[in-house]
Amino acid sequence: MDSEEKKKWLEAGRIGKEAREYGISLAKEGTPLLDIARAIEEKIHSLGAKTAFPPNLSVNSVAAHYTPRFGDDTRLKKGDILKIDVGASVDGFLSDTAATVVVGGEENALCRAARDALESGIKQVVPGKPIDNISREIERTIRDAGFSPISNLGGHGIGKYDLHEAGFIPNIGGHSGATVRKEGVIAIEPFSTTGNGYVVDSSEVQIYAFKEDKPVRSRLGRKILEFVKKEYKELPFAKRWIVEKFGRLSELEFKQLVASGSLMEFNVLKEESGGMVAQFEHSVLIDGDEVIVTTR
Ligand code: CO
Repeated sequence: MDSEEKKKWLEAGRIGKEAREYGISLAKEGTPLLDIARAIEEKIHSLGAKTAFPPNLSVNSVAAHYTPRFGDDTRLKKGDILKIDVGASVDGFLSDTAATVVVGGEENALCRAARDALESGIKQVVPGKPIDNISREIERTIRDAGFSPISNLGGHGIGKYDLHEAGFIPNIGGHSGATVRKEGVIAIEPFSTTGNGYVVDSSEVQIYAFKEDKPVRSRLGRKILEFVKKEYKELPFAKRWIVEKFGRLSELEFKQLVASGSLMEFNVLKEESGGMVAQFEHSVLIDGDEVIVTTR
């Protein structure tokens, strides 16, 4: 791997880690989710990077893809299971990392299962070896702890300006015939749940990404599209960021921008049976025989 590129992957990892830990330190009973999201964003910017995607702050049976909405007044409650999933972009070189906290309490068995699954899964990251080794290890660790892995969420490749590159890493065994890449970055992200282990789209969307240039009728819609293309390329962004910049009316443009095929949506994902969900995630850089966890 090119040494300049490697430096940027590592830098993105270091900043992602710092942002994650900072977010965790703010996760106290009574704290508004919106304050935590903004603080994480500011932290990433203050460290000289951009967000790779909006901080995902998903609570309890919400597994992923929730970032506070414009004017969000949700506050953390004691016992909430909060997943903080963040990432940094250094010139398009990205990190993706997550941790889970029990608000106002100690780490519970559910969180420990996902944390242990991440560590045991990472040990199976061997260039050229089956991805299924990672998946099986994750599944075994979570089931041994008495919980279910979420079967339709998993790790993934990470490319430059590409958060979900090809190379899905399932959290259950027997579903990947591919081998671990010999160069590049991957994210490992086990989810453990007290439920059945399956997430579904909810109707709510707070995160979008630019998809394709399509004709857009409204002037404001075109302005938004130009802005997100320039500012985020194809990386995910928060609806809240757009409303803060372009005003409340911009909220009405999203439907059209999605319908025209200009933007894609990331629906808030919920555990189907209403189970509690925990998640831990690291980004891992592979360069020949070298395997480096960039977000540790
Ligand atoms: Co990820």
